[in-house]
Amino acid sequence: MSFKWVILGAGDIAVKFNDAIRRIDGAEVIGVGSRSAERGAAFAEKHGIPHSGSYAEMLALRPDAAYVAATTDAHADLTRLCIEAGIPVLCEKAMFTTSAEAEEVFALAKERGVFSMEAMWSRFLPSIVEMKRQLDAGAVGQVKHFEIAIGWEAYSGPGSRFYLKELGGGAAYDLFVYCYELAEFFLGVPEKVENVAVHWASTGVDETETVTLRYLWGLATLTASIGVRLDERTVIMGDKGQLRMLRPHFGSDFVLRRPDGSEEHWQDDKTENGFVYEAEEVMRCVREKLLESPTVPHDLTIRCAKVFDMINASK
Ligand SMILES: NC(=O)c1ccc[n+]([C@@H]2O[C@H](COP(=O)([O-])OP(=O)(O)OC[C@H]3O[C@@H](n4cnc5c(N)ncnc54)[C@H](OP(=O)(O)O)[C@@H]3O)[C@@H](O)[C@H]2O)c1
Repeated sequence: MSFKWVILGAGDIAVKFNDAIRRIDGAEVIGVGSRSAERGAAFAEKHGIPHSGSYAEMLALRPDAAYVAATTDAHADLTRLCIEAGIPVLCEKAMFTTSAEAEEVFALAKERGVFSMEAMWSRFLPSIVEMKRQLDAGAVGQVKHFEIAIGWEAYSGPGSRFYLKELGGGAAYDLFVYCYELAEFFLGVPEKVENVAVHWASTGVDETETVTLRYLWGLATLTASIGVRLDERTVIMGDKGQLRMLRPHFGSDFVLRRPDGSEEHWQDDKTENGFVYEAEEVMRCVREKLLESPTVPHDLTIRCAKVFDMINASK
């Protein structure tokens, strides 16, 4: 039987998710929810979705899962709405803006027995998975240092969701979330999070931040920005070589560089829409009656939200 999705929020990222579901055999988007009936109807017509309406009306269709595609400020409330309706939920990153919010909503999900997951799609990308496999197989020897930088010049004009505090703007929720959740993917849970340094935009959101994670073997430096185009990359430096990936949250390829200068290149030639994998994971978890995904567990989202707390407290 077909796995039925609804999308909550008829904005930009909803288009990519709808396209991803169309690529999965045995899955379909049956409805799109919007605060605006006209926007929802126009989105449904343009993207071949049979139903549109309010968020609550879409949950009343009793889909197998909902994808929350609204701006970050609305994530916790919409996730709660899904859980209270008993509908499994995949919520865009950053799923929560504080750790208190994360703990409260995940506790509710557990109590109600409803699956929930942050849409950290990069953790499922073949290139990321393969780089982790090579790391674990000893490709670079003992890890000595890690760095990751993700940043670009986001639109900063009137109404920009990136720069408005009330829409959940700022680099942390939009991009640092990748830095932290990919660092943990490769390296595991840090001993300590320290050296949180933030540059604040005039609108009050964090425009750029650098955070240092302390591990037993050394340090990891994480930088995110919505104000400047960074040299987007992640590098894992070990005593026997380096693994280097450009644009790590989209990661299509990476290089293993050895001390003698030789290189091995790994390329993902098959991925056309990287959201397919996270959607397939939700479908698998729901079918297996899991309450969380082992690849993006609740504790990961909570630990990342605790770093958001530190970033926000540093003001
Ligand atoms: N995974 C990725 O690669 C990726 C990429 C881009 C964005 N994202 C995430 O996806 C989310 C949405 O980003 P987007 O670029 O799609 O944003 P967007 O187009 O600006 O807005 C998405 C939708 O949010 C809904 N919304 C709910 N409350 C709102 C409010 N108070 N003000 C404005 N809109 C509100 C609106 O839907 P309705 O009015 O139709 O209900 C709007 O269409 C963000 O959390 C972002 O971090 C993820």
